[in-house]
Amino acid sequence: MQLDKLEATAREMVASGRGILAMDESTGTCTSRFEKLGVVSTEQNRLSYRQMLVTAPGISDYISGAILFDETIRQKVNGEIPFASYLDRIGIVPGIKVDKGAKVLAGHPEEKVTEGLDGLRERLEEYVTLGARFAKWRAVITIGDGIPTDACIMANAHALARYVALCQEAGVVPIVEPEVLMDGTHDIATCRAITEKTLSVVYEQLDQQGVALGGTVLKPNMVLSGKECLEQADVDEVAEQTVDCLRATVPSEVGGIAFLSGGQTDEQATLHLNRMNQLEVDLPWRLTFSYGRALQQAPMKAWSGDNSKQAEVHGEVLKRAMVNAFASKGEYTSELGSFTV
Ligand code: 13P
Repeated sequence: MQLDKLEATAREMVASGRGILAMDESTGTCTSRFEKLGVVSTEQNRLSYRQMLVTAPGISDYISGAILFDETIRQKVNGEIPFASYLDRIGIVPGIKVDKGAKVLAGHPEEKVTEGLDGLRERLEEYVTLGARFAKWRAVITIGDGIPTDACIMANAHALARYVALCQEAGVVPIVEPEVLMDGTHDIATCRAITEKTLSVVYEQLDQQGVALGGTVLKPNMVLSGKECLEQADVDEVAEQTVDCLRATVPSEVGGIAFLSGGQTDEQATLHLNRMNQLEVDLPWRLTFSYGRALQQAPMKAWSGDNSKQAEVHGEVLKRAMVNAFASKGEYTSELGSFTV
């Protein structure tokens, strides 16, 4: 294992004042987001939109890494240069989603387990030749009546650990993403308890596989009230509960932490990250973002299938990237930008 290289890449991914752009939606997810805007999802449309994101002038001031989907890493920016090479050239670390999606867990019809371990060694080898330097695997944990079960948490944690080991063997930094969903009526205490349990089992499994934590990046959910919970925790409580939860479960050696946005509004995702970075606690890791929706909602809406809107798309993605970059230092203020989506 090339540990120095892995640790250096992980540090680059969570570099101060920057964060990760998740633009790795599977074709199915991308299609449903496009359709909500009345846009037909063709390969060319997905390319046109995604190349607008990465060509926003100065985007690398705020973005340290970008997660690509299999289709995108095989495409060229402006028909000239492969995505990964383009990103490298502008100082953004190229990454790739390598899981094959969350499928129903046999025997547990309301729960999911992420698939994609079969053939992963070979796929990683190819992705390295295509320029990927880090990877992402998302596990999904649902809170509901009697769930998550131990079986679901264990199955997902074990798969994550095997994925991490394979990535590190290939010289690729794994993003470890065990997402406890915010859907549901549960309160913030329940989210805290389930997130804490999930992260504990994930790190037990990573330990069993003997991986090098310094060459990994954790991508967790924030600790939030369920979306349909009548009592919504405020920004201070979310920040405190999330940071306490991470301190209780995440080993200090982990290379860095980059949150998912998970269906929060753009504003919530920024305010929560900002507040966490203002707390007067000494943390062993940097806390930044690896947002999909909270970075892309506004630019995708500005585009809405019209390629003549490039300047607007650039403006929106830069604005979202910039406010979150400031939030990753605890320096966001409302003068930096409003939230319109
Ligand atoms: P969201 O920020 O939209 O949750 O997406 C992040 C991601 O990469 C999901 O796997």
